[in-house]
Amino acid sequence: MANLNDLLARAQKYATDYLEQAQKGSVVPSTDAVTALAGFEEAVPDTGFSAEDTLDLMHRLGSPATFATTGGRYFGFVTGGTLPGTLAANWLSTAWDNNSALQAQSPATSAIESVASRWIVDLFGLPSDCAVGFVTGATAANLSGLAAARSHILNRMNWDVEARGLFGAPEIKVVVSDEVHVSVLKAISILGLGRERIVRVPTDDQGRMRADSLPELNPSTIVCIQAGNVNTGSFDPANEVIRAARKAGAWVHVDGAFGLWAFVSPQYQELVRAFLEADSFATDGHKMLNVPYDSGIVIVRNRESLTRSFSATAAYLKNSASDMSNFTPEFSRRARGIEIWAAIRTLGRVGLARLVERNCDFAKRIPAEVAHHGLSTPHNVVFNQVMLVAKTDEETDRILRAVQNSGVCWFGGTVWHGKHAMRISFSSWNTSEDDFASTIRAIRLACS
Ligand SMILES: Cc1ncc(COP(=O)(O)O)c(C=O)c1O
Repeated sequence: MANLNDLLARAQKYATDYLEQAQKGSVVPSTDAVTALAGFEEAVPDTGFSAEDTLDLMHRLGSPATFATTGGRYFGFVTGGTLPGTLAANWLSTAWDNNSALQAQSPATSAIESVASRWIVDLFGLPSDCAVGFVTGATAANLSGLAAARSHILNRMNWDVEARGLFGAPEIKVVVSDEVHVSVLKAISILGLGRERIVRVPTDDQGRMRADSLPELNPSTIVCIQAGNVNTGSFDPANEVIRAARKAGAWVHVDGAFGLWAFVSPQYQELVRAFLEADSFATDGHKMLNVPYDSGIVIVRNRESLTRSFSATAAYLKNSASDMSNFTPEFSRRARGIEIWAAIRTLGRVGLARLVERNCDFAKRIPAEVAHHGLSTPHNVVFNQVMLVAKTDEETDRILRAVQNSGVCWFGGTVWHGKHAMRISFSSWNTSEDDFASTIRAIRLACS
């Protein structure tokens, strides 16, 4: 049996070595390292190896085959790093291993998660009685917010969707933009709202929903708007959309996986002010807030609509109204709200604003840095996302491949309004001026 102190010290040593390497080494794993992952392909052991041996194998084969997403030069998808305080909080709460479903089962995690809930709505400027659930990511948060919307609309029509399902239920109309994030479509399909039955609203040249093209809305409509387009970072015209929805008695859901964090910055708050009037919100902790995976947050103004969707009781559970399981699809789950609490507690309002502003500032500087190298940006840079295109799709793809192969930094590609584009997402607390400078050098070199 391993000595626990030695084992955890070993894990700590591997973790700190890894983080140091992620900071200075290649962002991309080598082909050899990925090939060596075959070393994990063992048969189920009969008697089991030691914990040290297992950790050694994980570090020896696994660590070199990771993308260094916790370092400062990874700009793929929308990926946050891990703030030190959140990593440490994650370790301690894993040691607690308390199940955050029920208050009776875990007073400590429930207390901390309820502070985190209060802080989130405070930071966003929402009413203090909003319901908050800590889920796995923005996809699950979209699912949860839309479940609340479905419940609210049908409940108003005296249809108990939780009891009767959607068989024979009144129709719900779901309105999204042409550039809706795929996770919203996934949520819509899981909830039985029919991915092919939705109404799509065209977008403008920045990827924003065109409010002048909204269909007729009614009290059984859910309108999904976006705070932060995954390619351009643009924000839908919440003011106009929410005004129209209010008039019609429709529900407005906001997918703000990373964009809702504009709330914490005096400089960027204006982008999201109008979204405040929406009914439900989905965001991520593991993007702009830089907590470890997996971490998403759902916020719903009408508390009952979320708890009606997710509450379930059983005599042996001894449920209470404040149990976190009333706000999430799961019962048992890890206390992921603790890392959110740790992030906010260690950064404070000033640090949070700085985190968002630094990332947006990097994004805004990109177009000018590469303009003389044949690259342009096909949108206004308003937040943390920036795309680059070369003269032809082939040239864009070639430059992207060269950057990715350099190992200096990593970002992915997309197709934006018919043209191939590179998309760079600044979302890490860890990106320094040096990281930015080497990224620019890598892009320029790839262009030459
Ligand atoms: C706008 C938007 N919505 C939803 C998601 C899904 O988030 P997650 O993968 O955390 O579930 C993303 C992820 O990039 C996103 O950018």
